[in-house]
Parts: sequence; C-alpha cells; structure tokens
Amino acid sequence: MGMPIVALDNVQKRYAMGDFEVPALRGIDLQISEGEFTVIMGPSGSGKSTLLNLLGCIDVATEGKVIVCGEETNSKSEKELAKVRRKNIGFIFQAFNLIPVLSVYENVEYALLLKGIPEGERKNAVDEIIEQVGLTAHRNHRPNQLSGGQRQRVAIARALVTRPRIVLADEPTANLDSQTGKSILHLMQEMNNRYKTTFIFATHDPDVLSFAKRVIRIHDGKIEKDGAQKKSAPKKKSARTRKSA
Ligand SMILES: Nc1ncnc2c1ncn2[C@@H]1O[C@H](COP(=O)(O)OP(=O)(O)O)[C@@H](O)[C@H]1O
Ligand SMILES: [Mg+2]
Repeated sequence: MGMPIVALDNVQKRYAMGDFEVPALRGIDLQISEGEFTVIMGPSGSGKSTLLNLLGCIDVATEGKVIVCGEETNSKSEKELAKVRRKNIGFIFQAFNLIPVLSVYENVEYALLLKGIPEGERKNAVDEIIEQVGLTAHRNHRPNQLSGGQRQRVAIARALVTRPRIVLADEPTANLDSQTGKSILHLMQEMNNRYKTTFIFATHDPDVLSFAKRVIRIHDGKIEKDGAQKKSAPKKKSARTRKSA
C-alpha cells in the first residue's frame, strides 16, 4: 500500500575515531509505512540513536541507501538535508531540550517562527496543540516551573505543531518515572491516532513494549527481530484464510 515513508537498504554507518572506525550500523534493511507507531528496542550502544539520526536527516549513511519521505539522503548537501528535515521531521529527546527563558507557549511557537508561519496561524496551531497535550493552564509557565512529564508534553507539542509526517523520539521516557513515562506514551499514541503522524522511537525501556504496534530489536548495529506484537496477530483470521485457500 503506497510507498514506505522511510526505507533503508543495506545501511552501514561507521564513525571515524582517529585511525579507527567504529561500526555503529552493520547492514540495516528497514521499511516503515506512513502512520506506523514503531519502537526500536535495543541495549545501550546498539545503534538506536545512530539509526534515528539517519532517519532524521541529521547524519548520512557511510554505505547503503536511506530514503526519507521519498528523498534519498545520501547524496544531499547539509543544506538540502536541513530542508528535508524542516519539512518532514519532528524530534523528541530524552533531555526535553526546551529553551529555559521561554514560556510553554513560546517554546512551542518557536518551531513555527523558524518556518516563517504568520502570527495568526501560529496562535491557532499553538493553542490547539497545547490543549491536546493538556497544558493550557500552564501555557505561561517556564520549563523550570514544570514537572518532567509536563516538560516532555511541551516537547511533544513542539514536535507536532509543525505537523511533521514523522516524529522521532530518542528515549523519550528515560528521564521520567514509570507512571509518567506511561502517560507520555499514551499521549504519543493519541497523537499518532489523531494526526496519523508516523512515530518511531528508540528505547531500552521494556514498559514501552505494550504500546508498540511494531517492535524492531537491534543489537550491535543489526536488526535481530522485526515484527508485530503477538497480541495484534490475527490468529483466527489466518486459520480461516488457510481453510478457504
Ligand atoms: N559520534 C560518534 N563517534 C564515534 N562513535 C560513536 C558516535 N556516536 C555513536 N558512536 C558509537 O556507535 C555505536 C552505536 O551508538 P548509538 O547509536 O549511540 O547507540 P544507542 O543509541 O543504541 O545507545 C556505539 O558503539 C557508540 O559508541
Ligand atoms: Mg542512544
């Protein structure tokens, strides 16, 4: 059904370290469809952030092909990559990365200012998304007046306000207690349903598993396992299909 929103073909990424090369990704083949809610799961150092950086057009592969929203990234200049990124991608980080001197409203609005969106349009978009993440009452607060979970909600609003096709979240629950982490995952799931945004997130938090429609396990720069969760596998249907076949 249609083209995948991201496609990787035998992707390798090596980092130069003096005379050495550190292999971070060692032959990744991956396709993700628009609207998926996918988790990349793997231990520290397995290549999750490297993979997200390639998907987010922050970095390019050493070998192999990376296609993001129909654009092949390997041959692009920094400037062209930035353009693909601004047009299509929203980021959510473990450390929230909010601007401390700006209010909740201003932090979210900033993403639209960068895109040159006019004021009236900005206000509507920011008001709507702040309401969606449940922070209307905190719109004038600064980040240091918020809890960790509230800060991550601001980061989610900021990532979504530009209506990107893809949101990349790198360990978004790592700095949150497990209850708050779950509420953040619920919120991302809601946003995935509401806006049909493709969510791809990296984590080593096992709590995340129950939320993912698709879990990709990565180890030492290779995909070990890629599949839908058991509970969503339509067992009866496939039995029926077999019978009637
Ligand atoms: N900028 C870098 N320079 C050199 N090595 C790096 C760099 N970034 C990551 N690495 C190495 O690449 C491997 C994968 O790292 P990373 O993608 O950060 O894994 P994860 O996010 O799963 O913890 C690790 O061995 C890490 O040390
Ligand atoms: Mg990482």
